[in-house]
Amino acid sequence: MTVTEYLDKALADSEKAAPEDLVFSHKGILYPFTFCNPETFQVLDSFEVRSDDVILAGYPKNGTNWLDQILNDLVITAAKYTEEEMNERINIGNELSVFLRLEFGDPEKFKRMKELPSRRIIITHLPPQVLPKSIFKSKAKILLLVRNPKDTAVSYFHFHNNMPPLPSFNSWNEYFTAFMHGKLCWGSYFDYLIEWNKHIDDENVMMITYEEMKENRASGVKRIAEFFGLLLTEEQLQAVAERSSFQAMKANAQKTHGAFGNVLFRKGDVNDWKKLFNEDQNQEMDKTFEEHLASTKLGAKIKYEVYCKT
Ligand code: A3P
Repeated sequence: MTVTEYLDKALADSEKAAPEDLVFSHKGILYPFTFCNPETFQVLDSFEVRSDDVILAGYPKNGTNWLDQILNDLVITAAKYTEEEMNERINIGNELSVFLRLEFGDPEKFKRMKELPSRRIIITHLPPQVLPKSIFKSKAKILLLVRNPKDTAVSYFHFHNNMPPLPSFNSWNEYFTAFMHGKLCWGSYFDYLIEWNKHIDDENVMMITYEEMKENRASGVKRIAEFFGLLLTEEQLQAVAERSSFQAMKANAQKTHGAFGNVLFRKGDVNDWKKLFNEDQNQEMDKTFEEHLASTKLGAKIKYEVYCKT
């Protein structure tokens, strides 16, 4: 099965599910049944990380599919694969049915993942305390992707209401309350970042923001390549940056993501929150950010004053 076939099937299956059957809870955090399996969570620790794994961590809607494409492009270009080798790499992934996120799929997937060729790209929305412990014991590098909370909330709102595997909300106001209380799939944005802040000084962790990628994609691509030790020429880096523009990825969406592409590539902008947040919601978000993240090293890198106040 290919990624697009997998996504198309997931969307079609969840159309038939009753709203109460869409999610389950693991360690107090909700996950969608369409993609995740409670049994897989029981055996997460059986995942065997490799020191050269390329790991991307990000809360939903922080731009994971964007960085997924960039990382794949960087790894493939650096490895100098021929077209045949590249197709073989894709075919192995498809045959092993290991799709999209570390936490997706059946409990046997971690065994099958041993057959994936290096360098593997491992993407996850899981908070660090839920991730397989071996990840932090290994030398594998983790890129942490973070987007400002207001744009994250808006992007996730549209996603909930347009993505059949996730529960819908009757209004933005109802959704906003759920976001602020972490009653969404993958839990609270704030708890997620509070936990990741504990790893911000880890040698193997680098943080990058959605906003800095938007402001200078070429520079972001270069930093990412350097962090993972992927050797590309300036021209190759430039080409990776060009192929990952919002317009280029949206134009290619049918091929890369099937019907899901229509939901995924929505606006791709900074500041869309201004259309939905009312004054009370702005104040509530500002206060929560101030209380939980503003004084942390990770919080400072979000540049809240720039992206969430002006
Ligand atoms: P919006 O809903 O604000 O448009 P994720 O991949 O983690 O689900 O994140 C999805 C968000 O990333 C969406 O935000 C989507 O439009 C945005 N996105 C995807 N590709 C992008 C790109 N190439 N450039 C900028 N934003 C992108």
